[in-house]
Amino acid sequence: MKTQVAIIGAGPSGLLLGQLLHNAGIDNVIIERQDPDYVLGRIRAGVLEQGMVDLLREAGVGARMDFEGLVHDGFELAFDGRREHIDLKGLTGGKTVMIYGQTEVTRDLMEARAASGARSFYNAAQVQPHDLKGDAPYVTFEQDGEQFRLDCDYIAGCDGFHGVSRKSIPAGVLKEFERVYPFGWLGVLADTPPVSDELIYANHERGFALCSMRSPTRTRYYVQVSADEKVDDWSDERFWNELKSRLPERTAAKLVTGPSIEKSIAPLRSFVVEPMQYGRLFLLGDAAHIVPPTGAKGLNLAASDVNTLFRILLKVYGEGRTDLLEQYSAICLRRIWKAERFSWWMTSLLHRFPEMDAFGRRMQQTELDYYVSSEAGRRTIAENYVGLPYEAIE
Ligand code: APR
Ligand code: PHB
Repeated sequence: MKTQVAIIGAGPSGLLLGQLLHNAGIDNVIIERQDPDYVLGRIRAGVLEQGMVDLLREAGVGARMDFEGLVHDGFELAFDGRREHIDLKGLTGGKTVMIYGQTEVTRDLMEARAASGARSFYNAAQVQPHDLKGDAPYVTFEQDGEQFRLDCDYIAGCDGFHGVSRKSIPAGVLKEFERVYPFGWLGVLADTPPVSDELIYANHERGFALCSMRSPTRTRYYVQVSADEKVDDWSDERFWNELKSRLPERTAAKLVTGPSIEKSIAPLRSFVVEPMQYGRLFLLGDAAHIVPPTGAKGLNLAASDVNTLFRILLKVYGEGRTDLLEQYSAICLRRIWKAERFSWWMTSLLHRFPEMDAFGRRMQQTELDYYVSSEAGRRTIAENYVGLPYEAIE
C-alpha cells in the first residue's frame, strides 16, 4: 500500500490533519489502535480558540459547531468570595472562544472522513514506523490477523502521549521537559443547566474548582483532588457538596445538581519534547506535549501543530519547498512553550499546593488581586486565553 502522508492516531490531531490534507488533494491514510467508539467515549476539554475554530471551518467540519457551539465573550475568576469577569472580547479587540466538546469535534471529523472516502484503519495492532531517516519511510501494522505495509513520503505521529511514534525515535535524540503536579482533577458531566453563562475558575482554601459546560443543558464541573484519590470514593453527593464549598456563596446557592453521566480523575502534568521532528517523522499534539487542563490549551495546541504541518506540506507538495520541513519543530515549539507557560501559571495561581503555607496563600491571592485590578493584567490573561496567533509559514 502507498500514500503520501501516513497518519498514526485518529484523535483530533490525526483526523484534522487528514481532513485538511485530503481536501488539498494530498493522499493520506490514518492508522488507529482503538475502535471508533472507544475514541469517541473519551470526555476531554471543550474550549476552542478562534484559531482552531477557523481551522475546523477551513477543513469543512464547522457546520455543527457553528450551530450548536456556544460563543463565550469572557470567563470569570473567583477568589476571596469575589467573582471577577475577564472580558475576553473587549480586551483582545474582538476575539472570543467557542464552547464545543472535543468529543463532538472528533465525531464531526470522523463523519467527514467517512464521507470523503479517505482510507482509515481502526483496531490496528503492532503499529510501527520504519526508516525514519531515509527517504522511503513506511509503517507496518496488523488488522484482523492480516499484515500491512504502508509506504509513504512522511509520517505524522498523532498518537497521543502513550503512542508509538515518540518512542520510535532513538534514545538520546529527544530532550524531555516535565513537571508532574501533586494533584488531579475530578470531573463530573451532568445534564443540569450551567450555574452561570460563563466558565468560572475558582481558587479556594479547600482547592481549585471549575464550572464549565457543554451546552445550555449539560454541565462539566471539576474539583482539585489529591493525586492518589480514587473515583469510587466520590459519590455524586460528595462531589456536589465539595464543589459548592469551593464556590462563592451566592454561586453555590444557585448550583443545580443532578446524577452524573460520567465521573473521572485526570492527573495534571506539563510535558514537552524537543525537537518534534526526526527525519521524516513529525510529532503532533499530545505525542509531543501535555499541558495541565487549567486554561484549556491541550486540544488547541494540537490544532496549531496541525496548522503548521499542513501549511508546510502544502508548500512541500505545491512548490517543492522541502526546506520548510526543518522549520516545523521550531515554529511549533515557540507557540507550545508560551501555552505551557500560561497553563503552568494558571495552575500555580489557582490550586492549593500541599507545601503551601500562609505566606504562599497570601501571595496567590495577591497575585490574583493584582492581575484583575490592572488593565494590563487582565489583558495578559485574556490574550493568552483566547490563544496566541499562529505563525505564518513563508
Ligand atoms: N498506534 C495507533 N494509534 C495509536 C497508538 C498506536 N500505537 N497509540 C495511541 N494511538 C491513538 C489513540 O488511541 C488515540 O485515538 O492515537 C490517538 C491519540 O489521540 P489523543 O490522545 O486524543 O491525542 P491528539 O489527537 O494529539 O489530541 C489532542 O490534546 O490535551 C489534549 O485532550 C486533548 O486529547 C486531546 C489532545
Ligand atoms: C472543560 O469544559 O472540560 C474544561 C474547560 C476549561 C478548562 C478545562 C476543561 O480549562
